[in-house]
Amino acid sequence: MGATVVTGAAQGIGKAIAARLLGRGDTVWCVDTDTDRLAAVAADFSPLPGTSLVRPCDVGDADDIDALWRDIDATGTQVSALVNNAGIFLRSSALDTRLDDWNRVFAVNLTGGFLMAQHAAHRLVERGEAGSIVNVASGQAYQPHSRGTAYAASKAGLTNVTRALAFEWGPFGIRVNTVVPGLTDTAQSRATKNDEDFAAAAATVPLRRLGTPEDVAATVAFLLSADARHITGQALAVNGGRLML
Ligand SMILES: NC(=O)c1ccc[n+]([C@@H]2O[C@H](COP(=O)([O-])OP(=O)(O)OC[C@H]3O[C@@H](n4cnc5c(N)ncnc54)[C@H](O)[C@@H]3O)[C@@H](O)[C@H]2O)c1
Repeated sequence: MGATVVTGAAQGIGKAIAARLLGRGDTVWCVDTDTDRLAAVAADFSPLPGTSLVRPCDVGDADDIDALWRDIDATGTQVSALVNNAGIFLRSSALDTRLDDWNRVFAVNLTGGFLMAQHAAHRLVERGEAGSIVNVASGQAYQPHSRGTAYAASKAGLTNVTRALAFEWGPFGIRVNTVVPGLTDTAQSRATKNDEDFAAAAATVPLRRLGTPEDVAATVAFLLSADARHITGQALAVNGGRLML
């Protein structure tokens, strides 16, 4: 089993995904824009049995993505899995959304995920090896709320990129799936929600609690594992039944 690249690994869901994979002994490239937090996670991860490597990268920047993969190649690491977890949620009403913001959300949440997947797949196809990619979407891909049109559209796009790539890369043995987290207590959701909001949201969940980053991480780990060897092109929601796909 080769290494896994996890984007947005410096905090929240991405950090939990990286920790889960490192806990089972995997080699994980932790990628994020936040260099300080990346240094901190490297220290947090050091007791885990796997090998963690950190590399700052802005997945909203195609040149930075090219440079990331050149650096990964230079270390001799062979990547067999990718988790496109990095995502941004710029909140604004549709009437006030600026083109720059719209483009940035798409660059990070959609184009970046595609380019990362393309880099991973090129290398797998060249080596004739199977691999697995997991894209982290959102319930808003299916049921948008107000003040997040760009986010909802980018995440809906990502779920369909998953299906298109699963179709095209299935013959190479490259599986591509989407995980759809429900509301999860992280910096992203804390930007607009407080404890009361989280409690009110939990009350609407059939399982009567919100998911944790670790809940999402467990599902990602499953989808990357051989136990999921015949699963591709699927979206798996981790939301306590709040939104049934
Ligand atoms: N928290 C939720 O309620 C929730 C719900 C559904 C989906 N999601 C999705 O789950 C994923 C993780 O969300 P989270 O809640 O852990 O968010 P978070 O904001 O806590 O963490 C996101 C991480 O991604 C990094 N990042 C942001 N832009 C980046 C870029 N351009 N390049 C590289 N790294 C970048 C950030 O620095 C941060 O470390 C996101 O894609 C998010 O949209 C979150």
